[in-house]
Amino acid sequence: MRIESERILFEDVPATAIAECYGTPTYVYEENRIRTNFRRALAAFRNDYPNFRFFYAVKACNNPAIAHILRQEGAGIDAASVNEIRLAAEIGLGGEDVMFSGNFLSDDDIRQGLQSGVIFNLDDISLLPRVLAHGRPDLICFRVNPGYGKSNVGEYVTNAGPKAKFGLHPDQVIEAYRLARDAGISRFGAHMMPGSCITDSEYFGFITGLLMDIIGKAVRELGIRFEFIDLGGGLGIPYRPDESPLDIEAAASRVAAVFKEKVREYGLEPPRLMMEPARYFVGDAGYIVGRVHAIKDGYARIIGTDVGMNVLARPAMYGAYHHIYVDGREGEPRASMGLCGQVCENTDYWVRDRPLPMGTTVGDLVVVENAGAYGYTMSYQYNGRLRPAEVLVNGERHMLIRERETFEDMVRGAHVPDYLRE
Ligand code: LLP
Repeated sequence: MRIESERILFEDVPATAIAECYGTPTYVYEENRIRTNFRRALAAFRNDYPNFRFFYAVKACNNPAIAHILRQEGAGIDAASVNEIRLAAEIGLGGEDVMFSGNFLSDDDIRQGLQSGVIFNLDDISLLPRVLAHGRPDLICFRVNPGYGKSNVGEYVTNAGPKAKFGLHPDQVIEAYRLARDAGISRFGAHMMPGSCITDSEYFGFITGLLMDIIGKAVRELGIRFEFIDLGGGLGIPYRPDESPLDIEAAASRVAAVFKEKVREYGLEPPRLMMEPARYFVGDAGYIVGRVHAIKDGYARIIGTDVGMNVLARPAMYGAYHHIYVDGREGEPRASMGLCGQVCENTDYWVRDRPLPMGTTVGDLVVVENAGAYGYTMSYQYNGRLRPAEVLVNGERHMLIRERETFEDMVRGAHVPDYLRE
């Protein structure tokens, strides 16, 4: 995004053109930004450890067009559910190009996961006998919870460490791989999540060391070989204007240094290194274009827009910050005010007190930044406020990649027993 003569542009497409063509609220993604983010991160990690691959955690933004961009760049897919495995298949990825990192799986999930032939990343030791009851994969991976986690977004988003629901306790790891080996499984990988939205580059080296000590001990004890180590996601982006970005090159070189040192220390055959981030690729490449529909001056000035908690859940769910721009007014003097959506909940009043342009008026367009990850995928239909459209921009081109929902979508699949119609 850039601002030229006060006008907001996504690549070369003005925000006004998006609003005119597709209405508001609309999610907009900059294709070139996604590609640049991916290439920078890949170059950083491959530079220090050439046998490296990214998988894209499609939960962050599951539009097939966006997933295709990342596939074209060489990413595999990290799937959280059978439906995300199906989404990967839709874009032509299957088998060992897909990691199935579900948790608390049902028997049906297990059956369908096995049928699809993707890599099973088991979140608990108790899943192994359940998988084996349905079939025996060649390759198995366990998600290890190394005992630490971190997130700039706070505890809600810290998906590792003692308070997280994910992964095996380090004390269960040897037993898990022993059971797998004794069941005749011959190929192994290991996985962890370090947390999510982390901009402290040192931390990635630290947590890699923890995982590698756990894995190194398993290798010593069991004599098995790890084909790959997957360090999960967590590469963060700054959300507030004064936050520093992650130094991705520093993170990559810390990770590689620790990784190589541990490979030597435990005498491992060097495994492939993998990560499966999402936010770093798509987070800052996505925006929401919304419109101001009403302004209230009561206890406070509140700008009423169509970007509510149903469109962007993160502020109401986590107290997350998203920067807001007002098209045509960024040069104006500011005053403190609030901003909300149209949902009948007070968590929808997601900006309480922020300096926004004083002249902001009904009809103006607002642009919400850093909405590419965990934006559309976490949107919902509450209050009959339906999910927005999604648009991809590339240079001067803009393309609808998902239609705005309609009333028919809202009632699709609903059934009313006849007697209730009487
Ligand atoms: N791999 C696994 C197994 C994951 O569970 C996740 C995210 C990722 C990779 C990608 O993580 P990333 O690189 O994006 O940090 N809704 C929250 C974030 C939840 C993260 C869930 N897992 C938010 O809006 O901040």
